[in-house]
Amino acid sequence: MTAPSARAAANLAPNDLESFWMPFTPNRAFKAAPRLIVGADGLDYMTTDGRRIIDGTSGLWCCNAGHNRAPIVAAIRRQAGELDYAPPFQFGHPKAFEAASRIAALAPGDLDHVFFANSGSEAVDTALKIALAYQNVTGKGSRTRLIGRERGYHGVGFGGISVGGIVGNRKLYGTLLTGVDHLPTTYNREAQAFTKGEPEWGAHLALELERIVGLHDASTIAAVIVEPMAGSTGVLPSPKGYLQTLRAICDKYGILLIFDEVITGFGRLGFAFAAERYGVVPDILTFAKAVNSGTVPMGGAIVRKPVFDAFMQGPEGAIELPHGYTYSAHPLASAAAVAALDLYRDEGLFERARALEPVWADAVMGLKSLPGILDIRTIGLAAGIDIEPRPGAAGRRAYEVMVAAYEAGAMVRVTADTIALSPPLIVDEATIGRLVGILAGAIRKVG
Ligand SMILES: Cc1ncc(COP(=O)(O)O)c(C=O)c1O
Repeated sequence: MTAPSARAAANLAPNDLESFWMPFTPNRAFKAAPRLIVGADGLDYMTTDGRRIIDGTSGLWCCNAGHNRAPIVAAIRRQAGELDYAPPFQFGHPKAFEAASRIAALAPGDLDHVFFANSGSEAVDTALKIALAYQNVTGKGSRTRLIGRERGYHGVGFGGISVGGIVGNRKLYGTLLTGVDHLPTTYNREAQAFTKGEPEWGAHLALELERIVGLHDASTIAAVIVEPMAGSTGVLPSPKGYLQTLRAICDKYGILLIFDEVITGFGRLGFAFAAERYGVVPDILTFAKAVNSGTVPMGGAIVRKPVFDAFMQGPEGAIELPHGYTYSAHPLASAAAVAALDLYRDEGLFERARALEPVWADAVMGLKSLPGILDIRTIGLAAGIDIEPRPGAAGRRAYEVMVAAYEAGAMVRVTADTIALSPPLIVDEATIGRLVGILAGAIRKVG
């Protein structure tokens, strides 16, 4: 064998950070001072410099069962050895059907059919496409408008950024989908600061949908999409009564309601889905992330029976929905989903999150008196902590808190000027105490 070229050798070196263009990361700053994770176990990550740090974010809101859980790891290994891949178009494999029926069984009401994708972004695009197609196949092809919400995050596909409401994620990408409008954000610091759970103030903001209907006419609107709790823009729970009002207005005008539960799905708010917590059944519900505890990419959309049935009308040999992905219901992802759902059930992890919610809320609210804390919101096992930005340096201070927490032993997430926390649902009181303590130290250190 000839010796590898210098370039090939360099590519093998673990410290060659150049080639990977990192997502949602300041690449040059990261590569100058990297934070590399090399292992995981339960509630902890292991860093490349040999430290154990608490995972305060379930990875990226996905590892709800904790890390490297034996039954999930075993299921993935077994599946890889048995069937690595099978095409989901015109063929199937048993684990896909099992995963779908297990997911459907957890969803409320008649949400009973699952379309698989590979990420939250694809789940959202799938949901939006199903909504538009549904209006078409039921003879309402004039209903083409999609309504999102300011400060909404629905991933990074063109559909998701069009209905999403984060200017930084939209402004570089042209005109996006046409015919989209947005509800106002439900967040108002003056009226809601330091709320545990759902804010009392804000249900009336759902009435803005009436204004939007008045502007465009219901006959042009296909669907409304919202996160029951906006996660990525800082943990913004729906105000009390808000989702119920949205549901009522959608029913009144024949508009489909989509809940984006990519973050809230699988126990984050103490229930399988936030829809259950709020007693509101959407027409389509998206999921991803925690469906298999973040182990293998998977996402999807669950639809209500009447939506599915509307497509099952034409000739039986015809494809009812021209949509799908090569890796829809990938065998490894499906096997991991079944194993993760078993674990959630056997360990009562959704109930555990519900029971821990008051302890969690009290612990995180304990940060209130620290310097520069503008607001704290808690719900389920999630929290958003707003940190006063330095003048002219939006996001900088919160970023420094994230780095200081990492150095002191905890992974926390930063979005703009908010620190977000969302530990695995296996978290215990002692770990909550340690996590909040480390964060408090980091906030004090950054000053
Ligand atoms: C509500 C919501 N929708 C969609 C997405 C996109 O998911 P993904 O990053 O898997 O594409 C996210 C990701 O955080 C999300 O929070």
